Amino acid sequence: MRPKIIAGNWKMYKTPTESKDLVEGIKAKLTFPLGAAKVIVCPPFTSLALVQSLVSGSAIALGAQNVYFEDEGAYTGEVSPPMLRSVGCSYVILGHSERRQYFGETNELVNKKARKALASGLIPIVCVGETLEQREKNITDQIVTTQVRSVLKDISSGDVERLIIAYEPVWAIGTGKTATPQQAQDVHLLIRKTIGQMYAWATAEKVVIQYGGSVKPENSRDLLSQADIDGALVGGACLKADSFIAIIENAVLTSRK
Ligand code: 13P
Repeated sequence: MRPKIIAGNWKMYKTPTESKDLVEGIKAKLTFPLGAAKVIVCPPFTSLALVQSLVSGSAIALGAQNVYFEDEGAYTGEVSPPMLRSVGCSYVILGHSERRQYFGETNELVNKKARKALASGLIPIVCVGETLEQREKNITDQIVTTQVRSVLKDISSGDVERLIIAYEPVWAIGTGKTATPQQAQDVHLLIRKTIGQMYAWATAEKVVIQYGGSVKPENSRDLLSQADIDGALVGGACLKADSFIAIIENAVLTSRK
């Protein structure tokens, strides 16, 4: 059984003071047993150390939103995997569509970062997903398959079983438009089949595939009930403790079914 994993991508929101309020709010409301479900928060770099001190010893794990593929060096503005490990990160989001769109990240770069993250003991949450134009042209399957094959290039089956794929249709991010549970399930199954072809079906069955794109308390239960949706990567709704907790509750509920 794959666990349901809920990750909150805070994007470029929350000062350290605001981060403290949010994490304390989440902790105060996380009073129910998580069972097999897992919770990750991914604040901006400037809040990582503080959030680590607040979640340490709790059921909440820490992730970053990006990383570079070298340990150290003259790379102004970048942050390395050992640096993330040193502030308690276990996870790192890679290849988010906003990084692809605004910072020119390619599948090749995302693959390089994913390999380095894995070698450094970080679990990558690797994002894939089609744009609206690509969906309208009926090339979603082709785009997503190419992304999955490229970002997983030269990653061993042992490592692929540890990482997380997040399917985030670009047209659903921050737009309030969600993929229907069936639309999302179809692409999740396609991703799993692609991994099955690259490795083995037994490997593909172990990979956690999250859905992201306007996940809210109201739609999370139906999405998380789908056979191949193993969690959610939440943007807007993770910035308030109440809505993030409501999504976590639905992950616990749907894990039990
Ligand atoms: P929203 O939930 O705000 O649509 O963002 C999704 C996302 O990009 C998570 O990484």
